[in-house]
Amino acid sequence: MAEEISGSIGPIVLLGPPGAGKGTQAKLIAEKYGIPQISTGDLLRQHVKDATGLGLLAKDIMARGELVPDELLYDMVAQRLREADCKRGFVLDGFPRTAAQAGWLDAFLEHEFFEKSRDKKCLPIVIRIDVDYNDLILRLTGRRTCPVCGRIYNVHLQPPRVDELCDIDGSKLVIRNDDRPEVIRERLHAYEQQTKPVADYYQDKGRLVSVNGSLPAEQVSEQIFRVIESRAWGC
Ligand code: AP5
Repeated sequence: MAEEISGSIGPIVLLGPPGAGKGTQAKLIAEKYGIPQISTGDLLRQHVKDATGLGLLAKDIMARGELVPDELLYDMVAQRLREADCKRGFVLDGFPRTAAQAGWLDAFLEHEFFEKSRDKKCLPIVIRIDVDYNDLILRLTGRRTCPVCGRIYNVHLQPPRVDELCDIDGSKLVIRNDDRPEVIRERLHAYEQQTKPVADYYQDKGRLVSVNGSLPAEQVSEQIFRVIESRAWGC
């Protein structure tokens, strides 16, 4: 249930490699603070499903585990951030993923988002979820997702109560197309090459906080909530 917080929370950015738990934690943050989760992976997968122009361009790139070119993402992200539910804040999961995307986000917030907000300017809180390589592999190969409500499970680590069925709505769980071993390797490679510099970008600005993501999900959340609550209120 959303906490009773009247003021702005501002943008929260979750960084971390594939399988670090960004989606899992973003959902918990969204629920606790009553702000939307914006996952560029989910938005892109919806475009692929709907066979939009963007979806057709992104489909094969995502299936190979590579990053979708920056310029293809900006309109999609800008449109979502302009929606009314983002006004108090939002949690970004999977964006920015290149240093260029991080620069774009700062410019967008400065020139558009904060301009329209009546509240004080809340700079993004950037939280990197750190997890060991071997744990990432176990998490990605065991992941199952509910196609209806989006809840994320793991057959090894966070299994549903009934095998392969969602606890919430009973739907048959699905395996993501990019969770095949050869694609996982490529995604981890893309992270090392293109996304690690995003952490440096925020570190240089003194805005990066790391949490230990190898702990059980509720203990990871506790760390994240502490960071948010020490930085966001009164921003
Ligand atoms: P995206 O959907 O963003 O995938 P990702 O970054 O690879 O991250 P994942 O969703 O795989 O992992 P996660 O960190 O969210 O972990 P989760 O919570 O699911 O992107 C997919 C593709 O879209 C990209 O490859 C790219 O092509 C494209 N794309 C997206 N954004 C882009 C951008 N900005 N620029 C360019 N291209 C972009 O957890 C994983 C598993 O671990 C689950 O099974 C879960 O149950 C389990 N788990 C989670 N936490 C714990 C825990 N604490 N303990 C035990 N198990 C846990």
